[in-house]
Amino acid sequence: MYISGVPGTGKTATVHEVIRCLQQAAENDDLPSFQFIEINGMKLTDPHQAYVQILELLTGQKVTASHAAVLLAKMFNTPGPKRKTTVLMVDELDLLWTRKQNVMYNLFDWPTQKHSKLIILAIANTMDLPERIMMNRVASRLGLTRMSFQPYTYKQLQQIISSRLNSVKAFEEDAIQLVSRKVAALSGDARRCLDICRRATEICEFASQKRTPEIVRMAHITEAIDEMFSSPYINAIR
Ligand SMILES: Nc1ncnc2c1ncn2[C@@H]1O[C@H](COP(=O)(O)OP(=O)(O)OP(=O)(O)O)[C@@H](O)[C@H]1O
Ligand SMILES: [Mg+2]
Repeated sequence: MYISGVPGTGKTATVHEVIRCLQQAAENDDLPSFQFIEINGMKLTDPHQAYVQILELLTGQKVTASHAAVLLAKMFNTPGPKRKTTVLMVDELDLLWTRKQNVMYNLFDWPTQKHSKLIILAIANTMDLPERIMMNRVASRLGLTRMSFQPYTYKQLQQIISSRLNSVKAFEEDAIQLVSRKVAALSGDARRCLDICRRATEICEFASQKRTPEIVRMAHITEAIDEMFSSPYINAIR
């Protein structure tokens, strides 16, 4: 499955949550059990380290990248009757780009092998990565399921903040409205939305040290937003 979407649209959070539910179902014997492993392009020093990490997560073996690539190809090509289904999440796939594109190519190719029992959940920002890479090589036989995450709407952002607050009355209703509308209009990025809330909370805490404690209001949100959009770089561009 190929999952794409701009930053902060909940791709990583959603996949983690879905896996958690599936693992729960497997524990209750509602689903066949499976092994879940994940790698993240951002945490690899080099794209080829993906092979090393995947092999280590699957078997505990530590070998060089080229050796790991050979072992993995062999593993997914040969029948293993007792092998469990493996779900591999590859987050930040964009960063596994190599000149020959072989890492990405293999990630899309292994699951198509008859004996692999491998499901890959690839997450990326770029929507057409599969077409841009290799895909003339394998596109035809790829039954790639795709899912694209859309930027959050203001209602959804409002819900995310409210669920995070977990009914603690720390924000004025209008303040939540303001930040949700502002971020939805700009990018729909939940991470940015939560960052603004966090900063507004700090501003509020700092201001109320001198006076009586108060909750986060629209003025705190406005100040946090102004701060975030007035970095020296942005000012220079203006
Ligand atoms: N539906 C949601 N409910 C609660 N929190 C959410 C939801 N969606 C996103 N978040 C929170 O917003 C932040 C960003 O989400 P996430 O990391 O999943 O984005 P992403 O799409 O993976 O972004 P990137 O492309 O930058 O990796 C996280 O802190 C996450 O917990
Ligand atoms: Mg992510």
